[in-house]
Amino acid sequence: MTNQIHAERILILDFGSQYTQLIARRVRETHTYCEIHPFNMTPQEIKEFKPKGIILSGGHQSVYDENSRIMDPVIFDLGVPILGICYGMHLLTRHFGGEVEASATREYGHAKIHKKANASYLFDALLPSSEPGNVWMSHGDHVSAPPDGFQIVAESQNGIVAGLEDPSRGIFAVQFHPEVNHTQNGDAFIDGFINKACGCTGLWTSAGFVEYEIEHAKQQVGDDQVLLGLSGGVDSSVVAALLHRAIGDKLTCVFVDNGLLRLNEGDEVMATFAKHMGVKVIRVDAQDMFMSRLQGVTDPEKKRKIIGHTFIEVFETEAKKITGVRWLAQGTIYPDVIESAGAKSGMATNIKSHHNVGGLPDRMGLKLLEPLRELFKDEVRKVGIELGLPERMVYRHPFPGPGLGVRILGEVKKEYADLLRSADAIYMDELYSSGHYEKTAQAFAVFLPVKSVGVMGDGRSYDYVVALRAVETKDYMTATAYPMPHDMLSKISNRIINEVKGINRVTYDITSKPPGTIEWE
Ligand code: XMP
Repeated sequence: MTNQIHAERILILDFGSQYTQLIARRVRETHTYCEIHPFNMTPQEIKEFKPKGIILSGGHQSVYDENSRIMDPVIFDLGVPILGICYGMHLLTRHFGGEVEASATREYGHAKIHKKANASYLFDALLPSSEPGNVWMSHGDHVSAPPDGFQIVAESQNGIVAGLEDPSRGIFAVQFHPEVNHTQNGDAFIDGFINKACGCTGLWTSAGFVEYEIEHAKQQVGDDQVLLGLSGGVDSSVVAALLHRAIGDKLTCVFVDNGLLRLNEGDEVMATFAKHMGVKVIRVDAQDMFMSRLQGVTDPEKKRKIIGHTFIEVFETEAKKITGVRWLAQGTIYPDVIESAGAKSGMATNIKSHHNVGGLPDRMGLKLLEPLRELFKDEVRKVGIELGLPERMVYRHPFPGPGLGVRILGEVKKEYADLLRSADAIYMDELYSSGHYEKTAQAFAVFLPVKSVGVMGDGRSYDYVVALRAVETKDYMTATAYPMPHDMLSKISNRIINEVKGINRVTYDITSKPPGTIEWE
């Protein structure tokens, strides 16, 4: 089902660049719908997609490589504007009869480019004055002779062709990466391609999406019942809010309290969804079951498996109690979809398995309902706000599926979980009130089951240790420790030691990823 919001569509053909998802996010930020497809999309599929414009991504290959990746030339028959980025620029150059050659040195990282033409259809937005501008380069080859009819509109300091255009045919090409934040005015450049060259009008909005998806879900579901595992995380929360608007009481959410949640988390989820929004939520208290199965287990992988399997078991038991369920709703988002598609076509470099509820849909004969599968995470958040979810919920840091289970080192005990919950709540409270929460990508406390000596008043204490972690990262694949001010650390440490009986020492983790990971287990 498509409607107004999908009427103007940009096709991004992926040649394997690490930045392809960023291109899509920048296009979506211009309020135009786009999809990423593998470079070898068939001519039939390309025509059926009906793009209003096409972007060819970068890629690590050279156009001279044996078996170099190339798209079907049908893209040139559609009469729509085309933008080639890096490898995409080289493909366009070769197609139109220009020349590409290998550079003596590979340029990678920050570079400066300047205008070569007095006026340019797209580059005036990127380089508004005659001053050079900063861009992000990543290439081996470069254009040595532009095709006939193309104008060189920008050049790098080393004399490399940085931008080519032929506005009459609607073909544009850049050697640098406008989608990367380091490229100054890169967003304005992409905006120019989408709105000025392709003539898109900004149909893709959160409000439009909500309206569309409500109708869509209604049609899909009909009179059936839908089940959703609600975790309190951003994605499942947005799915719950959206489906509740669409199908009301036909949605039943199951919220499993595994005893490894943060302080008051279960109550907050119930207050937001059940009390305020009137969503049907079944809260299952499975704390004892999880704790007894984790007893004596210290190996991190074993702990994860036990927590995962127990969750599925509890969820399935609850699901069976609800009659007439035909659908299982999930918070799958667009990066998961791209990764699975990439894995199938051999393009994905980093494949994560999606955290779904095991083989549950198949075993129970349920159909999958994935209302967020077109959205990037930042779009999911905007939709969450549009649906009236609290900002704190929508902008929460990620929380791992196994919860505090991977933040209590070694054996998990209720006593440890309670101490960690209290320490973590103080840490979060201080981060929120000081404004540091929004500046970090993820922050949490970790419980170390070792005791150290301290002094408390006139006496000696012998208690546990808590480590604080806060990281800066965009992709969670690499991360650096957040430079938390010392006075903040002192304040948090004092509060934890004074207020949480059983903790007498607090440390701050300054390990980067790699070599560390974000979580401790
Ligand atoms: P690491 O510790 O591998 O974590 O640097 C990277 C990101 O993934 C989250 N994480 C998980 N999320 N289930 C999840 O849903 C898990 O088992 C899991 N393990 C780690 C982690 O919190 C961080 O954001």
